[in-house]
Amino acid sequence: MNAVIRGTGTYIPDRRMSNHEFEKYLDTSDEWIVSHTGIHYRHIAAEDQAASDLATEAARKALQRAEIEPEELDMILLATATPDFSGFPATACIVQDNLKAENAAAMDLVAGCTGFIYGLETAKGFISSGFAKKVLLMGAEVLSRCVNWQDRNTCVLFGDGAGAAVLCAEEGPEERGVLYTYIRSRGWGARLLERTAGGSRFPYKHGETDPTDFYLKMDGRKVYGFAVASLVETIEHLLEYHDLSIDQIKYIIPHQANLRIIEAAAKRKKIPLDKFYINIQEFSNTSAATIPIALAELQGKHMLQEGDLLLAIGFGAGLTYGGSLIRW
Ligand code: ACO
Repeated sequence: MNAVIRGTGTYIPDRRMSNHEFEKYLDTSDEWIVSHTGIHYRHIAAEDQAASDLATEAARKALQRAEIEPEELDMILLATATPDFSGFPATACIVQDNLKAENAAAMDLVAGCTGFIYGLETAKGFISSGFAKKVLLMGAEVLSRCVNWQDRNTCVLFGDGAGAAVLCAEEGPEERGVLYTYIRSRGWGARLLERTAGGSRFPYKHGETDPTDFYLKMDGRKVYGFAVASLVETIEHLLEYHDLSIDQIKYIIPHQANLRIIEAAAKRKKIPLDKFYINIQEFSNTSAATIPIALAELQGKHMLQEGDLLLAIGFGAGLTYGGSLIRW
């Protein structure tokens, strides 16, 4: 049974924040941010918007494109590092209620920026087992709520947004949809990218907890090295496993964390940069949402033909990494 992506959608918050806004209050510059990351803008959710609100809007568009009613969904999966509530309830359940998807089970997936890739294989698993025929998979983040706006090392890198895809069980003579997924975890690096406080390891203690421990912290240099190596390894594995050459791939859709990471991997693998679909300049790093946003843009711009082969590749907190080979 194939797990085919029928429709995709995005929700991008209206507020578009340029690098110049940081210049007004931080020791940074548009020139530094662009030259070190490729980022020009990020979009910021309104105060009354949480991850489920962004995800719901993206899901509505994906369902519309797929011509599927919410009641037809069997499973709702939401990859996020910035859920509406810490721990429980699952943000996916709130989306289920917003959509009135009365026949769907719902759960969140926590795999950092690789969440959408983990979700593709999870969705395929539910479809292959016969449990589900129609699965809604989303990546949604409101990272602006957990970055320290005074920390120039991190706040310039992240933004808010959501992307969604509807995967359907389809039989056919040709293998289509999510063909193969390669995912790995490297927990030795768990603390290279973390929100320290609020979990069971460092619970909130009145008068003791440092408020900045609620913010995202990252060892940028170490994560950078891991990111380039992960991207290279995953491209190699996905191509070799299916005995494919890069010329047979229409686009690589990489997690958009830093343009330099993509450029370094492209150089190492001698792959032309235009093989990578890149939109980091507009959206910055929206963690689990970068890949579904890019996928929805490709579909929206009619840049994909049936039968095209795609590599979607993520890496991030956990540490986690991996990718999926998709036949559109
Ligand atoms: N403006 C000006 N200067 C800055 C800024 C800024 N916004 N940020 C850092 N600097 C300074 C640093 O303080 C440092 O100064 P120093 O030399 O006086 O100490 C200098 O710039 C160079 O710092 P580096 O850390 O070497 O800068 P680098 O070129 O490595 O870029 C960056 C930093 C962009 C964070 C990079 O390391 C990176 O992209 N890392 C990977 C991030 C990533 O991939 N995350 C993925 C997962 S995200 C997720 O899962 C949620």
